[in-house]
Amino acid sequence: MRTIFTLVLFIVSTVSSVSPLSQGSIVVDANGTQLTYTDSGAPNSHPYTTIFAVNGMGFNGGIFSKIQTLAPSRQLRIVAVNRRGYAGSTPLSTYEQNVILNGTADQQAEFSRNIGVELLMFMDEFIQDHNISVFNGDKNSAGGVAVVAWSIGNMAGLSAIAHIEDVPEATRSRLASRIRSLIMQESSSNALGLPAPAQNWVPLDISDPTIPAAHQYTAFAQWVTAYFDHGNLSSRDPDVISWVVPSSFTPFTIFNMTVSQYNTIVDTSINPALDADQLALAPVLEANYRASNFNSTLRGLLPHMENWFITGTRSASFGPYCIWVVEDDNAAAGGGFVNFMTIDGVNHFMHWDDPELTLSVYQSMILS
Ligand SMILES: *[C@@H]1O[C@H](CO)[C@@H](O)[C@H](O)[C@H]1NC(C)=O
Ligand SMILES: *[C@@H]1O[C@H](CO)[C@@H](O)[C@H](O)[C@H]1NC(C)=O
Ligand SMILES: *[C@@H]1O[C@H](CO)[C@@H](O)[C@H](O)[C@H]1NC(C)=O
Ligand SMILES: *[C@@H]1O[C@H](CO)[C@@H](O)[C@H](O)[C@H]1NC(C)=O
Ligand SMILES: *[C@@H]1O[C@H](CO)[C@@H](O)[C@H](O)[C@H]1NC(C)=O
Ligand SMILES: *[C@@H]1O[C@H](CO)[C@@H](O)[C@H](O)[C@H]1NC(C)=O
Repeated sequence: MRTIFTLVLFIVSTVSSVSPLSQGSIVVDANGTQLTYTDSGAPNSHPYTTIFAVNGMGFNGGIFSKIQTLAPSRQLRIVAVNRRGYAGSTPLSTYEQNVILNGTADQQAEFSRNIGVELLMFMDEFIQDHNISVFNGDKNSAGGVAVVAWSIGNMAGLSAIAHIEDVPEATRSRLASRIRSLIMQESSSNALGLPAPAQNWVPLDISDPTIPAAHQYTAFAQWVTAYFDHGNLSSRDPDVISWVVPSSFTPFTIFNMTVSQYNTIVDTSINPALDADQLALAPVLEANYRASNFNSTLRGLLPHMENWFITGTRSASFGPYCIWVVEDDNAAAGGGFVNFMTIDGVNHFMHWDDPELTLSVYQSMILS
């Protein structure tokens, strides 16, 4: 009897300590395009800060579920939005796929612009539906909105910021009074439209044609979750980066997923392939990157937004490399446009392997 009672208590306390994430979708244009999301919900205390987190290549928004579970305890609400094609968001149409590969420059610019505008409309609708508070201008207090664009999700996140002029005035105004942080987490240089260095390597057939095409995204989903033993990154020398081979001494993040989590989160179908295709839109991606970071006129439209670029010291090559590129661009633009943080010991998936640390990192950027 007592054992049963204890068991019941255990189940009740386990269930109540992990509040389930709610799911939904928002129609973002007149064509019925939808973006799906999961939401950690409103914390008990007000005001709180809302983070819109944008997924990367081959991993849907479920990769943010651990930080979502912890979010209420940090006065945070985390909304993980799924980019087109991922986890039920409207797939890219045949027309859009053709434009990515074969479109004119104008068609490609329009495609990228639409992706950004969709994300802006998503955030605006969510803000209205859930009474998301404005940012009161006090950097030490909670409230307002942060955008976390992770990995190749920077393509969409930066397109959104770069196209803030392309949404209705009421939307722009609601976003401008709320957006306080843009956190570019572990972008690759090519997601910013910038060249990768000669040493760059990924387990995809673009780097190594011997990798069977049918298996390349499964291989990528393993490799990108590894920990790497880079040399002295303070040297800013690309040759100290371990471009190919992961550490032999730390298990990959993917080994910290159950089969069921893997099957829910990892996407090795057409979506990562379409993401990789979009890297060919380099001129458009670069324009979005430069506008959202270094164009003072555009930055003036989002007057509270502080930009950050962050990477882990044990991440796959492209993150530690890209921070140098953005640092150089920031210096060339006169400095002060982007803040930087390098996080010791973590990899590309710190939000999965170290969710508490990740929230502390986000908070330190949001409240600064
Ligand atoms: C809606 O669909 C039409 C026809 O496919 C397309 O021309 C138009 O660009 C789309 N609008 C948006 C906002 O995506
Ligand atoms: C792009 O154009 C090439 C050559 O015109 C054609 O072979 C290919 O099927 C096109 N691809 C798409 C996705 O439209
Ligand atoms: C919306 O939030 C504001 C504070 O940000 C609060 O004063 C107001 O009561 C809220 N409205 C609703 C309907 O919850
Ligand atoms: C790492 O590189 C920096 C910059 O070149 C240098 O000052 C520092 O001494 C190096 N550290 C080690 C442990 O070699
Ligand atoms: C900066 O953004 C403004 C507003 O969109 C635009 O008019 C201007 O051409 C941009 N400047 C540069 C150097 O791209
Ligand atoms: C796996 O993730 C949990 C957080 O959910 C973390 O506490 C643990 O350290 C991670 N394990 C490894 C080997 O990184």
